[in-house]
Amino acid sequence: MSVVNVGLIGAGTVGCGVIKVLNQNKEIIKNRTGITINLKRIADNDPERKRPVRLPKKKLTRDAWELINDDSIDIIIELVGGTTIAKDFVMGAIKRGKHVVTANKALLAHYGKTIFGEAAKQGVDVGFEASVGGGIPIIKSTQESYAANNILSIHGIMNGTSNYILSTMTEHGYEFEDALKEAQEKGYAEADPSFDIDGIDAAHKLSILIMLSFGTFLNFDKIHVEGIRDITSLDIAYADELGYKIKLLAIAKSRDNGLEAGVYPTLVKKGTQLADVSEAFNAIYVVGDAVGPTMLYGMGAGMMPTASAVVSDVLQIAKHLSLGNTHRSTPRPYGSKNNSSLIKMSDITTKYYLRFQAADIPGILGNITSCLGKHDISIESVIQKSRHLGGGDVPIVIMTHEAREKDLLSALRKISRFKAITGKTNFIRIEEL
Ligand code: HSE
Repeated sequence: MSVVNVGLIGAGTVGCGVIKVLNQNKEIIKNRTGITINLKRIADNDPERKRPVRLPKKKLTRDAWELINDDSIDIIIELVGGTTIAKDFVMGAIKRGKHVVTANKALLAHYGKTIFGEAAKQGVDVGFEASVGGGIPIIKSTQESYAANNILSIHGIMNGTSNYILSTMTEHGYEFEDALKEAQEKGYAEADPSFDIDGIDAAHKLSILIMLSFGTFLNFDKIHVEGIRDITSLDIAYADELGYKIKLLAIAKSRDNGLEAGVYPTLVKKGTQLADVSEAFNAIYVVGDAVGPTMLYGMGAGMMPTASAVVSDVLQIAKHLSLGNTHRSTPRPYGSKNNSSLIKMSDITTKYYLRFQAADIPGILGNITSCLGKHDISIESVIQKSRHLGGGDVPIVIMTHEAREKDLLSALRKISRFKAITGKTNFIRIEEL
């Protein structure tokens, strides 16, 4: 029976989950893999904090470098998060010839090229299953199960906090601020929720999936990102009336002229699989040219689901080590034909939901539709009901056929200058899945 020594840096929620799963499933792991995982050292800068698991005193240190410099440790698990000291720990471990397992999506989104490049140079593995979709096995599926495919598109609900907020707004008719407050009270949203609700966390995850699916390390800052702060209960009610739900999607599509990539709220037809993903669940819908449409679903965060993914990476690396296998599965850019260049958002073509706030005066609807028409935007349907917004204002909702974003934006700029337009126009893209 071989023994693999592991060092854990960061005993927070997920770190405690790792300790718990290694203890509670020790026998099954041993029987299944023939390997004993020995959690040799644990580093945390606050060892005294109350935790859901007991940290063995003799294994504990405040100094992560003791683990990184310990020659007997084969695998370092980094669960510190962030892109500063976590980067030093990960790069330090790789440079010392250690394998690394991390859940750190921000680190890989910003420094993936450097980290995977160094890992390839040193001949070590970097496991990152937990970085996208928590417990959902999307990384191994993308690296292995979809490997024979040309990936055509990815649509992911990859942020549980935002999905919980949008689900609560849909179910209870709450406004965004109330739904956020409830998510915070229930522990789904952080005190500072900006990474989640502004789409940044989902964009980190999307850039990792793009790297694996399309062979390209995108400059993270070039990905178009919008969050859910501007979604109102009125939009959710209109979407419902039109047969749609609003979801924050992370989207990548392979097109003839490059790659479309972005994170933004979208209208998704009710009854489709993604529309039915509610509360804090995640789902990733991937279409490959051979496999066709597939969807993976599960808990995208949380102590035990994320720990499940971390430990699965540890076991895979440990299995290679115990077999003396020197093959490494470090991702490398291969830049598939059309996917190295990002298509500008202004050049995408999609359908749109538009909500105008206007004074209830004769001719305003005609003026709006005529301006849209002049910009080559054709209308699928219009709703103007007597839902008064106060002060004599009414909402006008228009669904368009496919239009170029550039054309839509110039039409909206012109319409915003109409005297009868009294508030901000909301536009939401529609995804036909
Ligand atoms: N905060 C994330 C979410 C989980 O709400 O899904 C970690 O990426």
